Amino acid sequence: MKGITKSFYGIRANDEVNFEVRPGEIHTLLGENGAGKSTLMNILCGLYTPERGTIKINGEKCFFKSPKDAINAGIGMLHQHFMLVPVMTVWENVALGDKELPQVLPKNKVIEQIKELSDVYGLSVNPLAPVWQLSVGEQQRVAIVKLLYRRAKVLILDEPTAVLTPQEARHLFRVIKKMAEEGHGIVFISHKLDEVLEISDRITVLRKGRNVGTVAKEEASKEKLAEMMIGKRVAFAIDKPIQNPGKEVLNVKNIKVLGDRGRLKVNGISFSLRQREILGIAGVSGNGQEELAEALTGLRKPISGKVFVDGDDVTTGNPRDFMKRRVSYIPADRKGTGLIANMNLRENIALRKYWKSEYTRFGFFINWERIAGHTGKLVERFSVANPSLSYPVRLLSGGNMQKLMLARELSDNPRVIVAVQPTWGLDIGATHYVREVLVSQKEKGSGILLITDDLEEILALSDRIAVIHGGEIVGIVDNPDKVTEEELGLMMAGTKLEKYPVYDLKEDELE
Ligand SMILES: Nc1ncnc2c1ncn2[C@@H]1O[C@H](COP(=O)(O)OP(=O)(O)O)[C@@H](O)[C@H]1O
Ligand SMILES: [Mg+2]
Repeated sequence: MKGITKSFYGIRANDEVNFEVRPGEIHTLLGENGAGKSTLMNILCGLYTPERGTIKINGEKCFFKSPKDAINAGIGMLHQHFMLVPVMTVWENVALGDKELPQVLPKNKVIEQIKELSDVYGLSVNPLAPVWQLSVGEQQRVAIVKLLYRRAKVLILDEPTAVLTPQEARHLFRVIKKMAEEGHGIVFISHKLDEVLEISDRITVLRKGRNVGTVAKEEASKEKLAEMMIGKRVAFAIDKPIQNPGKEVLNVKNIKVLGDRGRLKVNGISFSLRQREILGIAGVSGNGQEELAEALTGLRKPISGKVFVDGDDVTTGNPRDFMKRRVSYIPADRKGTGLIANMNLRENIALRKYWKSEYTRFGFFINWERIAGHTGKLVERFSVANPSLSYPVRLLSGGNMQKLMLARELSDNPRVIVAVQPTWGLDIGATHYVREVLVSQKEKGSGILLITDDLEEILALSDRIAVIHGGEIVGIVDNPDKVTEEELGLMMAGTKLEKYPVYDLKEDELE
């Protein structure tokens, strides 16, 4: 790819980008969220047409008018959200779109080919299983089999490990290496430095739509790549202060919570959280974390069990009861649940307590002057870059939105903070900032429940770790410095380990 340029609404997502991949090579495309990685690869697979630039396959110039042209040229992309049809079986999904097959599908022939591919690459799939029954990891394997079945020579994997446990990721890495050995050219997309260093032959870094450079694995280091990604030096280490927990602030007793579709998503979870403690909840997303967080902030009422904050029963399903007891919430969904995108900074700061006397005049009118003063101070304290306090928050960068949300949620020295994926999608600088703020808030006395699928984050910040799987706590780790990623991964996949019993659940508390 040479000189690839593509804009969306005037924003250059790709700016004169050059990129190449050779047969047998694993070439990583590294960059922060929004750097333009997916855009570049969506161009290569025929989904987008670039404004400028050329694509050559085996030295020959190509124009892809649609994904079909790219598929015919041997390009296959595993998208961040795989595009499978849930009601169909695995083999039907693989055959789907294969124009060479006759009207009546030769089921046995397709199944045989699937089995061959699974054997060669170690991609175990059951061709007869309906896709909706498969785990995310299995669906990913099906999507890869489908690419190989279509004889893709260039395989593009867009952030494939984001949805996997560490074990599944390990396995995927073996598959990727095998595919490279068999002569495929692999484009591996990621923003996680550790895995990039592990798997790549070469690494190309994108920053703000530009190609910052390409380095061979031998020349790469975590520090160097990070510097290329964000354009300046970065610190990785967070000082984790010595554990000194105080009084219990949150006690959760055997709660069960339904999800949006009425299915049981939290199936009897109990734990306790103390002051000056960060309890990490580790798990692959979709295992009940969101529902748990919502039950602990009043957005969702448990169907049974109890939630106590500072000893008060708040199993009410009313967010204001939690706010009054100084429970703060940093939701994963910062633009939907955390902030109101079309409101300005002042209004978003007001949301948490516009009804309180400190923010009203005569107990009825909102006191905007006071809120503006308060917002001004907070914005300064949390260094939220902004053109004015009446600027709509949707126009702020992700990092500044997150800082604004932290400013609102942490301003009153909360008793409990429920933080879900607090650094998701942030650049390295903002990530570091958010982590430091959480740790310093812990030292000031808050109890923090940190819910994330980012193991690095869990390990860096938590004083204890509880692993969630299928709506249950599978194990509790008291000393995160001693646990291995393998052990965490096993528990994330649902395996109970004797070493890490779930001690918070006492028999007599189960009625
Ligand atoms: N279909 C689209 N419409 C509008 N903007 C887009 C679209 N796809 C990507 N962008 C924008 O292009 C930039 C690069 O995005 P993307 O390629 O998805 O980054 P990455 O994959 O590196 O996270 C971002 O600013 C993003 O918002
Ligand atoms: Mg992307």
